[in-house]
Amino acid sequence: MSGNPSTEFAPKLNGDGPDYFGYYPGAVAVISSRHGPDINVMSAGWHTALSQQPPLYGVAIAPERFSYRLVKESGQFVVNFLPFSRVEAVAGAGLLSGKDVDKYSRLDLSWTASARDLPLLDDAYMSYECEVVDEVETGDHSLFVGAIQTFHYLPQAFEGRVQNAVQVPPVAYYGRSTYEALGSGQKKVLPPQLFRDNDRKA
Ligand SMILES: Cc1cc2nc3c(=O)[nH]c(=O)nc-3n(C[C@H](O)[C@H](O)[C@H](O)COP(=O)(O)O)c2cc1C
Repeated sequence: MSGNPSTEFAPKLNGDGPDYFGYYPGAVAVISSRHGPDINVMSAGWHTALSQQPPLYGVAIAPERFSYRLVKESGQFVVNFLPFSRVEAVAGAGLLSGKDVDKYSRLDLSWTASARDLPLLDDAYMSYECEVVDEVETGDHSLFVGAIQTFHYLPQAFEGRVQNAVQVPPVAYYGRSTYEALGSGQKKVLPPQLFRDNDRKA
């Protein structure tokens, strides 16, 4: 096998725009936001932990989203994770826009206001309440860097700090409207000692 990537299916990375793929699957986040009388929710596949200390979490939101304005103007957002039992709501939150419809009632998503007055999704097994500390314009999306203020989670969705995907299956997204329930139960624990012991040089 050569180390060179195959060029057979090489995408065009210019012209009409890139069509690169293959970075999925990944858990889908559902971003809730509120500014004045406006309240909204949207799905995001492009989200990531950015720092443990301070605790930072990032989400990429395109400026044309209704959520973009709410997050930018309020300076706050919530990163929620819903179980696979709510996968239709996750898909709908990523297809409908808060510009046209109240997604909470349309998708039967109930929420509770947090102490910071942010909408926490009642069905979420985990939610991070974030305050925007930076916005990085990356291209056709902006990376909002959120400082996690509060963290809520459902204890039965976790075993210690490890997610129990069998008990509460997360929603994985593959792109192209394709979703999967995680939780085969097939896990492998590979602790660092395993590698440290083998790494000793004579
Ligand atoms: C599974 C999935 C993941 C998505 N990920 C993102 C994302 O990371 N960032 C983004 O800006 N839009 C993403 N979208 C598109 C938005 O969710 C979609 O445009 C939505 O209608 C925006 O809602 P709003 O206008 O109410 O904010 C995703 C859609 C789906 C279905």
